[in-house]
Amino acid sequence: MTEIQVAKKDSLLVRLLVHDPQQYLVMPYEFTTDWFSAREPIWAELFDELRHRPACGLEIGSYEGRSAVWILEHLLVHRQSTLTCIDFFQNSEVNDRFDSNINASGAREKVTKLTGFSWQHLRSLQPDSFDLIYVDGSHLGRDVLEDAVLAFRLLRKGGFLAFDDYLWKDDPSHSVYPKEAIDAFLHLYGESVDVLHKNWQVIVRKVSH
Ligand SMILES: C[S@@+](CC[C@H](N)C(=O)[O-])C[C@H]1O[C@@H](n2cnc3c(N)ncnc32)[C@H](O)[C@@H]1O
Repeated sequence: MTEIQVAKKDSLLVRLLVHDPQQYLVMPYEFTTDWFSAREPIWAELFDELRHRPACGLEIGSYEGRSAVWILEHLLVHRQSTLTCIDFFQNSEVNDRFDSNINASGAREKVTKLTGFSWQHLRSLQPDSFDLIYVDGSHLGRDVLEDAVLAFRLLRKGGFLAFDDYLWKDDPSHSVYPKEAIDAFLHLYGESVDVLHKNWQVIVRKVSH
């Protein structure tokens, strides 16, 4: 797939992708915001192995599907790969945009959409079943810690766990930020994970249970 341009249209970020350059079939995605582009190079490098085998991904916090469609297009490309997306999807505009973007990706059949609190859904998923889990939901420290602990159980040995917003500290209504939760997780689970990357995101690999 070749990315041909990123254009502004009606105040929405519209990413145009050519699925088959021979046919010039253009798929538009519509996003009002893009938190993910800056993370793509490191994800492509660290998670390359997922491209070559069936892999199960889980995303906590999907919003309009910006990161989800990138994961589907660049990592979960095997036809048996799957992606589970958890979010409130409570705003109908966000919900419709997520659905439309996932449909435009051509990978709708790979996606399971779970609506509601992450802490509820994470308890109902199969332990040791995911190869990649992206924690990008609630930014309250205690929620991030709970997502991290529950996600660790769901991860296969060798699986990747990625946290967003490690360095985020802008909201005065937050008393505990993601960083404190992620640091606590790394402290308590340090022997069971290898830290692969630590910057705006923290990315670890599960090496033991
Ligand atoms: C930063 S956005 C996710 C962005 C997305 N990963 C991307 O890069 O395009 C965070 C999302 O997490 C969702 N969220 C926040 N707290 C949550 C919770 N406790 N359970 C499930 N979803 C939650 C919000 O509804 C929001 O859509």
